[in-house]
Amino acid sequence: MSKKQKAKLIVDGRELELDVIVGSEGERAVDISKLRSETGYITLDQGYGNTGSCTSNITFINGEEGILRYRGYRIEDLCEHSTFTEVCYLLLRNRLPTLEQRETFSRLLNEHSLLHEDMRHLYNFFPRDAHPMNILGTMVNAMSSFYRNVDLLSMRDNIDLTAARLISKIRTTACYAYKKNIGEPIVYPRREQKYCENFLRMMFWSPVNGYELREDHVRALSVLLILHADHEQNCSTSTVRLVGSAHANLYASISAGISALWGPLHGGANQAVMDMLAKIQRQGGDIHKFINMAKDKSSSFRLSGFGHRVYKNYDPRAKIIKKICTKILEEEAAHQPLLDIALRLEEAVLKDDYFVSRKLYPNVDFYSGLVYTALGFPINMFTVLFAIGRMPGWIAHWKEMINDPKARIGRPRQIYTGVRERKYVPIKDRS
Ligand code: CMC
Repeated sequence: MSKKQKAKLIVDGRELELDVIVGSEGERAVDISKLRSETGYITLDQGYGNTGSCTSNITFINGEEGILRYRGYRIEDLCEHSTFTEVCYLLLRNRLPTLEQRETFSRLLNEHSLLHEDMRHLYNFFPRDAHPMNILGTMVNAMSSFYRNVDLLSMRDNIDLTAARLISKIRTTACYAYKKNIGEPIVYPRREQKYCENFLRMMFWSPVNGYELREDHVRALSVLLILHADHEQNCSTSTVRLVGSAHANLYASISAGISALWGPLHGGANQAVMDMLAKIQRQGGDIHKFINMAKDKSSSFRLSGFGHRVYKNYDPRAKIIKKICTKILEEEAAHQPLLDIALRLEEAVLKDDYFVSRKLYPNVDFYSGLVYTALGFPINMFTVLFAIGRMPGWIAHWKEMINDPKARIGRPRQIYTGVRERKYVPIKDRS
């Protein structure tokens, strides 16, 4: 990070020299941290589209060129050669593990995969049809009562243990929520199985039907989790950092991140895509009707799975998922009609001037739901899968923030636009 360049700002006739911060990939920022104390001004940037909240060495995105790298490694290489567990290690430790380190880490994940038995009772207090994202957020928050060392110092010292608990138990929590929802007995994790194998078995094994693991399904799940593992300062990660900046414990910070992710403009979009594709199918498959609705400014409808704040090019994650999707769905006749609608929709959107001029391409959520469906996941588990994948990223950001000597509590300013001071009116005189 270099600081040699300067920028000049003239405010109220006074010239102010500001540092220019240059990142390792040449990204530039004007450092305005002294702006208010020196001029009385703040900057206004609704939705933070131009605001950097921190410096970070975890993930690099070039949205114009469609590039995504974790700790310097291309997402395409990680998807081809790594596993989700290995990527968790990379994000947390800033290096790919050796064989021995990977085994030790996998063992740690397996040792902490079980949920405290008393936590199981909490499931009974939810309505049977409660959304699993709601259960997930609550359970992760509750972990701070079941797994102690929640004060900041011991958590900072025990970050590996807490990270292993969270990465492993979030998956167990999600599977229990699903089993509860469908009224089947829960399936406990097994020590000898790997992360994604355990995940699929805990989800789909039943005492009556059993469950046969398929290698291509295990691999597809691993790649999808890798693709969701981090995405720098998105809404949920910024939430985790903001909550954590108040020195809230890691479980509480991540529970807040799960709530943010649940929103349909963020992680909830994968569920919205499937609902949209099914609706198009029910209404006869006319994609143009939906495209026109999305273009109509008097309607609030948007094409789910298109557009991104950062990517102004094809989302590199969507490219990889599209490939997996067409491969896995090749053999799944039942899901072909929805894939066909998705492919036609993408083709038409990429030719339509409205979307082209606004640089709206398919994002990570457009094809992921189709793959999840082919693996057997119900729609209400899609955002849960996103949360499970994002866990190592959230932890890595919390850890980076908490260890940054310059970190301060996150506290944006505002420009007040309400009424000016007025005289208090006693209740008897109010009309
Ligand atoms: N369909 C139709 N129009 C769109 C869409 C869409 N999906 N996305 C953006 N636009 C239009 C928008 O109306 C605006 O038009 P105009 O300039 O005429 O006012 C323009 O494109 C720019 O949109 P924006 O809302 O200013 O862009 P944003 O960066 O604030 O929002 C977004 C990004 C992802 C929230 C938005 O593209 C969207 O709502 N997409 C659909 C939901 C979705 O797929 N979300 C998943 C995001 S990727 C996973 C994640 O990060 O969680």
